[in-house]
Amino acid sequence: MAEQRPEGGVGASGAERARAAIARQRRYLFPAVITYYTEPLAVERAEGTRVWDMEGREYLDFFGGILTVSVGHSHPGVTGAVKDQVERLVHVSTLYVNEPQVLLAEKIASITPEGSGLSCSFFTNSGSEADETAVALAKMATGANTIIGLRHGYAGRTVLARQLTAHAAWRGLDDEMTGVKQAHAPYCYRCPFGQKYPDCGIRCAQDLRELIQTTTPGRIAGFLAETILGVGGFIVPPPEYFQVAVPIVREFGGLFIADEVQAGWGRTGDRWWGIEHYGVHPDIMTTAKGMANGFPIGLTVTRPEIAARWQGLTISTFGGNPVSARAALATIAAIEEQDLRANARRMGERFRQGLLGLQEKYPLIGDVRGMGLMQALELVRDRKTKEPAAAELGRLFEQTRQRGLLIGKGGLYGNVVRLSPPLTVSADEIDRALAVLDASFAAIAG
Ligand SMILES: Cc1ncc(COP(=O)(O)O)c(C=O)c1O
Repeated sequence: MAEQRPEGGVGASGAERARAAIARQRRYLFPAVITYYTEPLAVERAEGTRVWDMEGREYLDFFGGILTVSVGHSHPGVTGAVKDQVERLVHVSTLYVNEPQVLLAEKIASITPEGSGLSCSFFTNSGSEADETAVALAKMATGANTIIGLRHGYAGRTVLARQLTAHAAWRGLDDEMTGVKQAHAPYCYRCPFGQKYPDCGIRCAQDLRELIQTTTPGRIAGFLAETILGVGGFIVPPPEYFQVAVPIVREFGGLFIADEVQAGWGRTGDRWWGIEHYGVHPDIMTTAKGMANGFPIGLTVTRPEIAARWQGLTISTFGGNPVSARAALATIAAIEEQDLRANARRMGERFRQGLLGLQEKYPLIGDVRGMGLMQALELVRDRKTKEPAAAELGRLFEQTRQRGLLIGKGGLYGNVVRLSPPLTVSADEIDRALAVLDASFAAIAG
């Protein structure tokens, strides 16, 4: 008689456990929790840039848990710090001082953009909360109500963050709040004004003035913008964008909130923050994702005089918990000690050259864009009409999976490949990823 085994339980093969895990996900998780691929991938362990599924198949991770695994999976420095902290103290709440949190805040004050004066931190658990905190603070500090976000922008899943998110697919509910306006995105490949950079005069940024004068009382609380629009498909604003946009925001009393949830922590190469490539200081900066290499944390950092304008008391039960704070400190140490900001620039340049080579070979690749280790390919059916190639992107995903490469998806039309390996990625890994992409594009073109 065949041995009776619980489905996917002890003694089951990797394939059986994977099937059982996928079935449980489908049954017990919200269906809105989308997964990639026709048949979801069940991941079991990871190290550095490599990830293994439950059947033991190995993949090269070029999405890094959505730009979160900044210093590589299971980084020994981060793992060691977390283990040490778990044995000492896991939680006390913000009602008591915990040393890891204040050491982290001190460290952050030393690496925020030079001259910005951003030195006062509030910790939460996610990017959504970091953005919520920033918006609430901007309203309190200015006494104004309106916040301007960007079309194609993404700010998270809480009610306010969803309002600031300008993608119908991520909004879902028709629960519009007043006081949120969306400016045109600095999306040069699909310029909202049909213009070409650099002759455009940065019209998208200039348009902020009319937006404020025609759709608000003429006073705003702030402008929240990703320095590179992540979910939007790694849309990189032109170099002058923030230099034109931010003075307009300030003219109408608003604060500039730079969302560095995706672009922060050295990902753009050489600098800690995306905004440092633009020569403009934010008044408030938000971040999360790559900050603690996968441990939950969110950060809102500002100048002390703005922080002092918070009205009433506030608490985040888990925010700044010692375990995530130690993980963040260890992540920052790894970025510094392993010179990963420079590696992001060097490997980003190598990757970009290879991607441009693929664009010459495959007409499907309409645009190659990005900064550092945040590179994207926008797929189009026709380079003239720029008709989005979302179905082709789906086929590319299956091909790259079969060849052992994990990539990310983005863009309003679901036609952008997002590529963001850990900052530790090597030249050999970049070349292997390029070879897989080449073979995968060839397979779907044929
Ligand atoms: C730019 C940006 N801001 C905010 C968020 C929200 O972060 P979280 O998912 O941690 O709430 C995200 C998440 O993808 C993001 O990309």
